[in-house]
Amino acid sequence: MAVLSSAKRVLLPWASNGHALATVSGGLRVALGTDGGGGGGGCSLLQSRWRSSLPQLDPVDRSDDDNSGGGDMDWDNLGFGLTPTDYMYVMRCSKGEGGFSRGELSRYGNIELSPSSGILNYGQGLFEGLKAYARADRAGYMLFRPEENARRMQTGAERMCMPAPSVEQFVHAVKQTVLANRRWVPPQGKGALYIRPLLIGSGAILGLAPAPEYTFMIYASPVGTYFKEGMAAINLLVEEEFHRAMPGGTGGVKTIANYAPVLKAQMDAKSRGFADVLYLDSVHKRYVEEASSCNLFVLKGGTVATPATAGTILPGITRRSIIELARDRGYQVEERLVSIDDLVSADEVFCTGTAVGVTPVSTVTYQGTRYEFRTGEDTLSRKLYNTLTSIQMGVAEDKKGWTVAVD
Ligand code: COI
Repeated sequence: MAVLSSAKRVLLPWASNGHALATVSGGLRVALGTDGGGGGGGCSLLQSRWRSSLPQLDPVDRSDDDNSGGGDMDWDNLGFGLTPTDYMYVMRCSKGEGGFSRGELSRYGNIELSPSSGILNYGQGLFEGLKAYARADRAGYMLFRPEENARRMQTGAERMCMPAPSVEQFVHAVKQTVLANRRWVPPQGKGALYIRPLLIGSGAILGLAPAPEYTFMIYASPVGTYFKEGMAAINLLVEEEFHRAMPGGTGGVKTIANYAPVLKAQMDAKSRGFADVLYLDSVHKRYVEEASSCNLFVLKGGTVATPATAGTILPGITRRSIIELARDRGYQVEERLVSIDDLVSADEVFCTGTAVGVTPVSTVTYQGTRYEFRTGEDTLSRKLYNTLTSIQMGVAEDKKGWTVAVD
């Protein structure tokens, strides 16, 4: 576990607003979002209305950092729980500023938000997820397509009326976060450092309107497999009552508000022994969309199908990579409507996502009937998993230019 150093006074970036000093003692109190007022303004105007005026954070004192590799971490038993690490990255953008100014690392810890912040009241926020892997020789780290996460955040920000960091700012911030928390990157083959960028409306607002201030933050945690089943195939339940997304909604962007509404279906399914839920489209209730935390693929003969990203499906970066890798193997890949009939008659079913990687599905239960699929060594999903993770960890040559080194 990260041990925070003894109490320190830290000059926060918004010191000039008179909300300056915070005390670090086990947690960092960050005075966010004290702007009052109505905010507002059209989405397209927002980016140009914010101009950078963010003073620098005092450099973080790292003199008493514990540089041992992840303290007493049990690298062999990493799940997907939060292990607090040493540093987080924070960058802010206020009304009247043209974009995000230079951010800084600070000690990882709690943040303070106005009770009337846009994120707390109206859910104006997005998140991303990506992973850093240790190279075999421990000579640096590898990121997988971080620019894609940056671009997806920009698309989501447009939908949610928020300013977003540039691709360069995003990738720079991710690299800084990895390097500052390098001792928490699991040894190769044991897992990855999961990186969680957040973009939130941190400014105070009462009437329904875009917040007057935004905060971009990144924290990280070492993780292993997402599902408690580990590398084993999972059992899914097709959900018929609750839906994840609707046409015209926000299912196609990674807004924070997409996730709490799926908890009920997910918890009910878990209590019945399923790993996750598969959602159906909300109009016809006949086409499968995705699981709570990942995209879906079905294989029949030499054809792989995955639901098309037409607004209700999250455009996964792993999803897109797997489409390419399956085509490289000679499979026909179709992005289209995938009906319940396609699903239950498939040879193989698997899920993809940053957190879940490529996870095979052994059964799907629909209207009380359990359908079984091929799993094991000789499956397409296993081959795709091997190819993908070899590229991600720097074990196989990256002919596609997907990886970004962090040294
Ligand atoms: C990810 O795969 O990174 C996600 O954001 C899914 C999340 C529910 C863990």
